[in-house]
Amino acid sequence: MNILVTGGAGYIGSHTLIELYKAGHTAVVVDNLSNSNPESLRRVAELAGIEQVPFYKVDIRDREALEKVFSQHKLDACIHFAGLKAVGESVEKPWEYYENNIGGTLVLVDVMRQHGCKNIIFSSSATVYGDPAQIPITEQCPKGTCTNPYGWTKSMLEQVLTDIQHADPSWNVVLLRYFNPVGAHPSGRIGEYPNGIPNNLMPYITQVAVGKRPQLGVFGNDYPTPDGTGVRDYIHVCDLASGHVSALQAIDRCCGLAIYNLGTGQGYSVLDMVHAFERVNHVPIPYTIQPRRAGDIATCYSNPAKAEAELGWKARYGIDDMVRDSWNWQRNNPDGYPC
Ligand code: NAD
Ligand code: UD1
Repeated sequence: MNILVTGGAGYIGSHTLIELYKAGHTAVVVDNLSNSNPESLRRVAELAGIEQVPFYKVDIRDREALEKVFSQHKLDACIHFAGLKAVGESVEKPWEYYENNIGGTLVLVDVMRQHGCKNIIFSSSATVYGDPAQIPITEQCPKGTCTNPYGWTKSMLEQVLTDIQHADPSWNVVLLRYFNPVGAHPSGRIGEYPNGIPNNLMPYITQVAVGKRPQLGVFGNDYPTPDGTGVRDYIHVCDLASGHVSALQAIDRCCGLAIYNLGTGQGYSVLDMVHAFERVNHVPIPYTIQPRRAGDIATCYSNPAKAEAELGWKARYGIDDMVRDSWNWQRNNPDGYPC
């Protein structure tokens, strides 16, 4: 299939491109580069053994520019990663988050339907479960109250896409709820380099390891978890990427609308991650215990059985691979991609 990958220059998009090419698909990328560097696409081409990834520097809110891409390419489906994703920033700039993520997606799906392309895979998040009603979390678990505008854009867009599919059953919509993506391509050539102070645990750990930050703050050690620190379902980004290809291969038989958790089903605490990183990479990670972070929950991990049963997909990488590949990327690219 020929796939439109919005946000393809970003962290998860670039890894997914590799898996798409590996599975024999072709891709066209649109990205406004607001949180990425086109060097990622050059490296994707190198890793995939192709000349170059077809790329348009296009903002998905720009209808005219998107129209042009659709007129120039016959596209079978869209994997839609484009969006703003910084939780803290979304609290400061809610309008920008709703306008970009929701406004952009509305333009995208309108242009898609006008061009007869009605297959979409959407990047959602475990954040839509809020403080989950059950652990491990299945897809039947009710959606919850999000603690920030970023989370609400995901929850609302799930509803938007669901309603569009109900009104026009010729759409195929797959909502993928990611748990906590970490790691990088084992080559160390592509990975994640967040702007400013990392919000997420793994990039913070790797920046401490590389000497950019003196120590990690562990947000709370009084949660009702085995060691008192928060427990999450970390998933290697290459596993996450292959989940998209599995969803794509099943898109025609997904009965119009389908939701899948993409997680490993295994919960690890903050200190489990720190200790695994130190053990595998032989780098010390000094840390101090800090107060809990507002909006955090104690425990969040998936039951990924539905994706395995229906898509034949399951995560293959373990915690040692995750911490090794995160470090390999950071060590080889201490300042991210060259500007
Ligand atoms: P990322 O920031 O690396 O990638 C997103 C890409 O979208 C960037 O390259 C950015 O430049 C582009 N973009 C943003 N707004 C755009 C617009 N209006 N038009 C065109 N391009 C635009 O983020 P990521 O970690 O790769 O995440 C990909 C998707 O997965 C996002 O939708 C994110 O919300 C979602 N998600 C991420 C995580 C995570 O922890 N990384 C977890 C759950 C869900
Ligand atoms: C966070 C977001 C979530 C988003 C997800 C992926 C919040 C409240 N949630 O999830 O909406 O979908 O990222 O981008 O921001 N931790 C530390 N020290 C740190 C950083 C994190 O101890 O410096 C702890 C956290 O308290 C948590 C765990 O590490 O227990 C994971 O945190 P993080 O990587 O930010 O992911 P989530 O909080 O699960």
